[in-house]
Amino acid sequence: MKEKVTLGLIGFGVVGSGTVELLRRHRRDIEDRVGARVELKWICSHSKKESPLIDRTVRQTRNWKTVVSDPEVDCVIELMGGTEPARTVVLTAIRNGKHVVTANKAILSKNWDEIFGLADERHCLVYFEAAVGGGVPVVQALNEGLAGNEITKIVGILNGTTNFILTRMHESGLSFGEALKEAQKAGFAEANPAFDVKGIDAAQKISILGSLAIGQWIPPEQVYCEGISKLRQTDIRLIQDRLHSTIKLLGIAEKIGNAWAFRVHPTLVARTHPFANVRNEYNAIALHGNAAGEVLLYGKGAGRLPTSSAVISDIIFLCRQIANGTAGQLPYVSRLARKRVRIAEMSQIRSRYYLRVTTLDRPGVLANITSILGQHRVSIASVHQDTFEENRSKKSVPIILQTHMTREADMQASVEEINRMKTIRASSVLLRME
Ligand SMILES: NC(=O)c1ccc[n+]([C@@H]2O[C@H](COP(=O)([O-])OP(=O)(O)OC[C@H]3O[C@@H](n4cnc5c(N)ncnc54)[C@H](OP(=O)(O)O)[C@@H]3O)[C@@H](O)[C@H]2O)c1
Repeated sequence: MKEKVTLGLIGFGVVGSGTVELLRRHRRDIEDRVGARVELKWICSHSKKESPLIDRTVRQTRNWKTVVSDPEVDCVIELMGGTEPARTVVLTAIRNGKHVVTANKAILSKNWDEIFGLADERHCLVYFEAAVGGGVPVVQALNEGLAGNEITKIVGILNGTTNFILTRMHESGLSFGEALKEAQKAGFAEANPAFDVKGIDAAQKISILGSLAIGQWIPPEQVYCEGISKLRQTDIRLIQDRLHSTIKLLGIAEKIGNAWAFRVHPTLVARTHPFANVRNEYNAIALHGNAAGEVLLYGKGAGRLPTSSAVISDIIFLCRQIANGTAGQLPYVSRLARKRVRIAEMSQIRSRYYLRVTTLDRPGVLANITSILGQHRVSIASVHQDTFEENRSKKSVPIILQTHMTREADMQASVEEINRMKTIRASSVLLRME
């Protein structure tokens, strides 16, 4: 048993300062939970910080090497962000026998096997609750709370920026460009928003969550990814008014037979679905376990104190094990796969679909479209001919079809054929439904 656990914090920005604030504010509770004293010895940042949060017991440095090489430090908290030197910081800390807490999704996504391989070898733990879902404790839920389940599906609104944009497009009728500008003004979107709006951030997050569920690393490159920048008000309105649904950017990891499919794309969810009410920058994640059924988590996916709350939870769980001398002595929960899992092609997934076809308003056109769908084994659930004046022109009319469960390959083949019809006036819009 150790009476004191020593921490070294690298990165005193938004999350770093929030973490120190919570460490101070909840010191007694944290130490009660850990069963030992928890001392913050180092704070490292580019520049020396003046802050009431930094008292005389804490030393400051600009050199991260000082922190990771201090023999007294048991646990390094990496909150500097970016890929380098953050990756080197984490690897050096592990090599020096330190356990690590990080909120850094970027280094986990790029260097998972390297980091966890080394951690395994050195009997060190790397905790990362804040890296996915900010303040939503989804990593703990997967690793601990639902450990008695086989997880068969994870579905999440994992990116606050795109959820904010979609909320504004639905609720205020803004175009994608206008909603993006608002998100940037409100501080929810970066000057270069590509990482969020193309779905890359959500892909990195679902790759981490799915990998935890499977027990095998599935890199984000294996996640099928479609962003939200091509969404148009026409579809938003039709989906809202005709289909009583809303569009969300979902990350989905799902077991299909013996394989798993990973995907991120804009998806229709019914107004009665709990995800439909997840607005603005909030996140929500549904975990399907074979024993627990569906478990739903909802909360703030980013922000100073929500993210710091997740970091503190990691610190408590780690420090408790460090104090007891068990940290790194047991097999790590996320490396339990006994056999390699196959990743399914996108063409193999099954979904219901929303299809908007823009066609000349002529007799027989609808029959041709339904005939093509039938030939590809696509069963139609409903058909709407749009009567909104602004969506009609003398020459063309939008037809909206909803399908029953269909194979992606059959749906794509149908759309390709429909787009080749002479009466078609614009490329058809295809969206999946959850
Ligand atoms: N912000 C959120 O809501 C949120 C949510 C989820 C996850 N995260 C993750 O949390 C991590 C931290 O994010 P943040 O928003 O707190 O970032 P931030 O505000 O930019 O803070 C980064 C801190 O790291 C320091 N730093 C960076 N490079 C350094 C280096 N080479 N040497 C020494 N210090 C260095 C900076 O020092 P200076 O201040 O002196 O430049 C700053 O104190 C990131 O991995 C991020 O992805 C953040």
